[in-house]
Amino acid sequence: MEYVTALTVHIISVVVWIGGVSFVTMITFPMILRVDKSLEQVMMFQGVEHRFGKIAKVMVVLAGLSGLYLIYEKGLSPGVWIMIAVWSFYASLLFGLEKMIFKKLFSKPDQQADMKKVFNLLQTFHWVVLGLSFLAIAAGIYAGHY
Ligand code: HEM
Repeated sequence: MEYVTALTVHIISVVVWIGGVSFVTMITFPMILRVDKSLEQVMMFQGVEHRFGKIAKVMVVLAGLSGLYLIYEKGLSPGVWIMIAVWSFYASLLFGLEKMIFKKLFSKPDQQADMKKVFNLLQTFHWVVLGLSFLAIAAGIYAGHY
């Protein structure tokens, strides 16, 4: 019973968190890239990121804690190591790296040409991160079913 509860918490947190990353990548970025003014782009991005950042942090912690319990119940396997690797990458982004990157990227928000480049780069980066997330989902399913 505890195993099923932990797995349910694990999957719900992963769904909310990676669902959010999918939404930002597939909906928010194309919207931002259609806006002309760079300052407006930065405001839109920061508004979404500020709200989602908090939710993502809670979900990452919940996925990690439930994951630890699942290891206690089921043990470690190669699939679990892949989940841990992707999770660690996300956690370091959310709890530190992201702030440093944003500071650098948004230090001159009025430079029109630069901002287009920055948002194109950020969108590509989000596709990469989303790809890694799908890999972690596949690894989790593999760990649970083979
Ligand atoms: C990117 C983050 C993660 C994603 C997307 C993810 C996704 C998943 C998925 C989809 C399952 C499937 C379970 C099933 O099909 O029954 C699963 C199971 C599991 N996850 Fe994760 N997970 C993540 C992070 C973690 C972390 C950080 C840990 C460990 C600290 C972890 C440990 C486990 C364990 C032990 C299982 C159970 C495997 C089994 O039943 O034998 N996961 N995860």
